[in-house]
Amino acid sequence: MENYLEIAVDIARDAGALLVEMSKQPLEISYKRPLDLVTEADRKSEALIVERLERHFPTHAIVSEEGGGQKIDSDYRWYVDPLDGTTNFAHGFPVFCVSLGLAYRDEVIAGVVFDPARQELYSAEKGAGAFLNGRRMRVSRTAKISESLLATGFPPFDDKHDVNARLFFRLTTMSHGVRRPGSAALDLCSVAVGRFDAFWELRLNSWDKAAGTLLITEAGGRVSNLAGGPMQLQAAEIFTSNGLIHEEMIQIFGAVLAKENRG
Ligand code: IPD
Ligand code: CA
Ligand code: CA
Repeated sequence: MENYLEIAVDIARDAGALLVEMSKQPLEISYKRPLDLVTEADRKSEALIVERLERHFPTHAIVSEEGGGQKIDSDYRWYVDPLDGTTNFAHGFPVFCVSLGLAYRDEVIAGVVFDPARQELYSAEKGAGAFLNGRRMRVSRTAKISESLLATGFPPFDDKHDVNARLFFRLTTMSHGVRRPGSAALDLCSVAVGRFDAFWELRLNSWDKAAGTLLITEAGGRVSNLAGGPMQLQAAEIFTSNGLIHEEMIQIFGAVLAKENRG
């Protein structure tokens, strides 16, 4: 493989440093729609990342959350979240990151997530393992929900039909807890490194999950939809775990969702 990962690591580090600098200054915040925040930091981080990716890979396509990047037809496509955890960032809660994933014909082949507040750099290449600050990482060995720490997230807009509140409650009563840290890309990293045993979310975008899903599979975990079928990058739903509690979780999802559909 070309030095995709090396370049992505450099870019993610620089974008992360920019975010930390910007977090020290007063920020201009606006709304994409009610409750859905965007800041100058999202845009500036995106501009930095897109400019660098375009310079290094002029023939690659770029899909980035704030809309920047070349929309060309290419087998290679970068999925960019220039600031994952915008709401946390805007409130000074230091849980946010930069996420860059590269797909070849829709299969993610390289991924980097950088958490600048903790100086934690997660990286993976398809078939070559997953690393945290250069050290190989593995998912947890927890084998039961009753001994697990879980995480989920909610979309940053009002969604009255979101059944995830029910899943959140049900699994909270069965596990050591369900966290909602507010950065899906970092939640995926936490599964990959064994801090969380599973993570799910019902409405994520491709840029939230491209890098993180490769990190998890390369760390020995499992990625699927909530029914256990294949996860599609373009689909909203995602469920990831250490593999060991996957089936038990799928049973719970199925039971809660069936009850919800019955009303
Ligand atoms: C959001 C975060 C959050 C998740 C939302 C995402 P953003 O991304 O990852 O944890 O629950 O679904 O939209 O807007 O901060 O990049
Ligand atoms: Ca995001
Ligand atoms: Ca974002």
